[in-house]
Amino acid sequence: MYRFRRLRRDDRIRSIMQETRLHPKDFIYPIFVIEGENIKNPVESMPGIFQYSIDRLEEILEQVKEAGIGGIMLFGIPLHKDPQGSQAYAKEGITQRAVRFIKEKYPDIYIVVDICLCEYTSHGHCGMVKGEEILNDETLPYLVKMAVSLAEAGADMAAPSDMMDGRVAAIREGLDQAGFTQMPIMAYSAKFASAYYGPFRDAAHSAPGFGDRKSYQMDFANGQEALREIDADIEEGADIVMVKPALAYLDVLKEAALTFDAPLAVYNVSGEYAMVKAAAANGWIDEKRIVIENLTAMKRAGAKIIITYHALDAVRWI
Ligand code: PBG
Ligand code: ZN
Repeated sequence: MYRFRRLRRDDRIRSIMQETRLHPKDFIYPIFVIEGENIKNPVESMPGIFQYSIDRLEEILEQVKEAGIGGIMLFGIPLHKDPQGSQAYAKEGITQRAVRFIKEKYPDIYIVVDICLCEYTSHGHCGMVKGEEILNDETLPYLVKMAVSLAEAGADMAAPSDMMDGRVAAIREGLDQAGFTQMPIMAYSAKFASAYYGPFRDAAHSAPGFGDRKSYQMDFANGQEALREIDADIEEGADIVMVKPALAYLDVLKEAALTFDAPLAVYNVSGEYAMVKAAAANGWIDEKRIVIENLTAMKRAGAKIIITYHALDAVRWI
């Protein structure tokens, strides 16, 4: 009999043997920025998460700075929406202004911007729409414009989440032509059509006005296809590839880690956060221990980067 318990005897030896350790730099914290003044709106389905107007952002940015996490991911919520999502690539768009503000006041914070049109379109889809169809190639130039305009505002990294085919190559080319050859792309490569995005759509006002996203986001039954998506994005020039959501997709993440040598990110999404918060609020689970267990599992499965609403709490708990 081999005695595994020798290396589990007390805290000292357990901590020596620990294979996976979380670090504040592992985390990227999503922030919702809303048009207007003096706004800090709680997102009901995401306790502890708020929509901030730019003039109230400092409060959360101070916490981000203090926590020493890897960076933030920005989601803008515009006042004006139209079929082309024009505020997504407007020089004075909410996200562009937020990026400029953060760059100026907090130059040390690494800013990732989500590249997608759904928060900005009146129909709430991630691309251009014709009738009931979500158009692919027609959408690409708008995504490129959005990425370039946010790069011009000072964003550090572009993260396309729209799931149009060919968007990584298009954005790479657009960024390069505009002189942003050094701006990395983190592609939401294996992004599944998931019920776990529900709370986010409340937070970002981005629910589709008709139909669903199944013609562009992936079927959650498909693991093989996820690897093809990731492969394609690496081919197109993605610097980092992502699996999203996290917990129900750790098999996909692990498989990707074994298959590819590109850095992997995982998005611990809004519904995953909401479930933990709801159970914790009822006293049914121990929030700290559950959060650390979940995040450690994501890293153990192969994630280099974890995008999570728990980031600021987790830093205090690791
Ligand atoms: C925009 C986008 C979504 C999320 C990130 N970027 C929503 C969606 O695709 O409907 C989800 C994030 C979360 O649930 O926390 N395309
Ligand atoms: Zn979208």
